[in-house]
Amino acid sequence: MVPTAPTGRLLDSPFLRACRREPAGRVPVWFMRQAGRALPEYRAVRGDGSILDAIRRPDLATEITLQPVRRYGVDAAILFSDIVVPVAAIGFGVEVARGVGPVVDRPFREERDLDRLRPLEPEADIPYVLETVRNLVGELDVPLIGFAGAPFTVASYLVEGGPSRSYVHTKRLMHADPTLWGRLLGRLADLSVTFLRAQVDAGAAAVQLFDSWAGALGPRDYERFVLPASRRVLEGLADLDVPRIHFGVGTGELLHLMAEAGADVVGVDWRVPLDEARRRVGPDRAVQGNLDPAVCLAPWEVVADEARDVLTRAGGQPGHVFNLGHGVLPETDPVVLERLVELVHAEGRADVPGPAPTGGGA
Ligand code: CP3
Repeated sequence: MVPTAPTGRLLDSPFLRACRREPAGRVPVWFMRQAGRALPEYRAVRGDGSILDAIRRPDLATEITLQPVRRYGVDAAILFSDIVVPVAAIGFGVEVARGVGPVVDRPFREERDLDRLRPLEPEADIPYVLETVRNLVGELDVPLIGFAGAPFTVASYLVEGGPSRSYVHTKRLMHADPTLWGRLLGRLADLSVTFLRAQVDAGAAAVQLFDSWAGALGPRDYERFVLPASRRVLEGLADLDVPRIHFGVGTGELLHLMAEAGADVVGVDWRVPLDEARRRVGPDRAVQGNLDPAVCLAPWEVVADEARDVLTRAGGQPGHVFNLGHGVLPETDPVVLERLVELVHAEGRADVPGPAPTGGGA
């Protein structure tokens, strides 16, 4: 333990205990995309502008981050921001189109595009993010999770020019010019490290690296072309003493490699049962997940049943953070999420001893 660790970081909270795989009375729960369109209070304050404009307003971003914490009683807050904030802030020319996602004016296609990816200077480029984090740390009584996009997922937007199903341009660049690909991912890794370190310096108590679309790759390509850059991000935070969560969708065949990349907690989508996911990531990592977000649209009895299955598969052992397997769908009834938090708090246990960690020390 670092003696100078800020007291505001709630080190004994159930969420941080679970990230450290320590026994805790109960299973903590939060939801990816808990702030957002499922909440009427979000729609009421959000306005019509770009989400990037909303993020640039610390008063608004603070309020939106707090909304789900107030309503659901979740065990962690996640900063209201976006994975494209750093690249937008250095002027790459990215917007987030409503109902579409990030879109890029001039996609990344050749070596000279590297010149458009200068280093991030947090105090000058994203002072609004730092102000939001500082506001939140003063108001929250649960830990704040900062986040960034992982190099592959951000690269996929920059290279494709927008969302994609097949990632043809991205995969073409990766295979046709591995050197340029490596330099692109290196730049994006450095941006993510700087972005995440700034959030932690401002008071974030944990970080999540979103590699949402890594599941588009097989293990061989992931290991050669993506893992080194994600490892560079995670290792670049190792000295900060905050838990690092590493998440992607459709990553069942990559979970062991994502664990190798160096995270403390591996996020799991709904396609791999949590007991199997634990086997794949090994005893030295906590797991986060993994109720199918679409299940939350079903009648409550179904939701309860599926949530209990997740808890059962987690085995009551320390090192489980309950979450959905991906973000809250906009169609979700917030009342269902309120009841889900109550259920996890009432029924989730995290004190059954698990297998001994292999890294030595308990
Ligand atoms: O509550 C939270 O989880 C915090 C906020 C958050 C947002 N984006 C706000 C947002 C987080 C963690 C993200 C991360 C993000 N952004 C990811 C990784 C997470 C994931 O879902 O896999 C990705 C891939 C993006 C890129 C992005 N931004 C997409 C695909 C979209 C959706 C476009 C749409 O309108 O359907 C966005 C926009 C966005 N970011 C919204 C929110 C709340 C929604 C729309 C809005 O209010 O404008």
